[in-house]
Amino acid sequence: SHSPWTGRPIVLVGLMGVGKSTVGRRLAVRLAVPFADADHEIESAADMSITEIFAEYGEPYFRDGERRVIARLMDGTPKVIATGGGAFVNDETRALILAQSTAIWLNAHPDVLAERVKRRDTRPLLRGRDPRRVLADLAEQRDPFYAQAHIHISSQRGPHEATVAAILKAIG
Ligand code: S3P
Repeated sequence: SHSPWTGRPIVLVGLMGVGKSTVGRRLAVRLAVPFADADHEIESAADMSITEIFAEYGEPYFRDGERRVIARLMDGTPKVIATGGGAFVNDETRALILAQSTAIWLNAHPDVLAERVKRRDTRPLLRGRDPRRVLADLAEQRDPFYAQAHIHISSQRGPHEATVAAILKAIG
């Protein structure tokens, strides 16, 4: 029933566990545009997992690769891009996203995110640490950056379909 989305790329930002990849994939289907997951693009470009990249080369190297991958993905064609939780905190990456896309902050309480991330163990920043603590600290550090996104949407209550509906409404 919808014709394809013809606006700027839509970039989802926000903390780990907020649903950027799941919501992004479903949103792209609804808008009839391609979906890209920046974390997956980095992994295939490096032919390494994010855990391996952090372990072998460190976080600054990862952030630089992340910025380059996101710059490449934003080629002016309509699409939905899910970013890793730290991407929008990097000054250069954030400036690029704000200039070239509609940036959407997906947010939820850190305790809710901590419950969600327990299902997956692929995140170096959470390794061997209490996710509630890490996510509360990251929220405090990062929320001022995320708040610069053009649109703010809560994914607190779920399900993801409701979040997709809220985004569709917000972008008109
Ligand atoms: C990170 C979030 C991860 C991934 C990396 C670092 C972060 O992406 O990019 O582990 O700094 O918050 P998700 O937000 O998709 O988990």
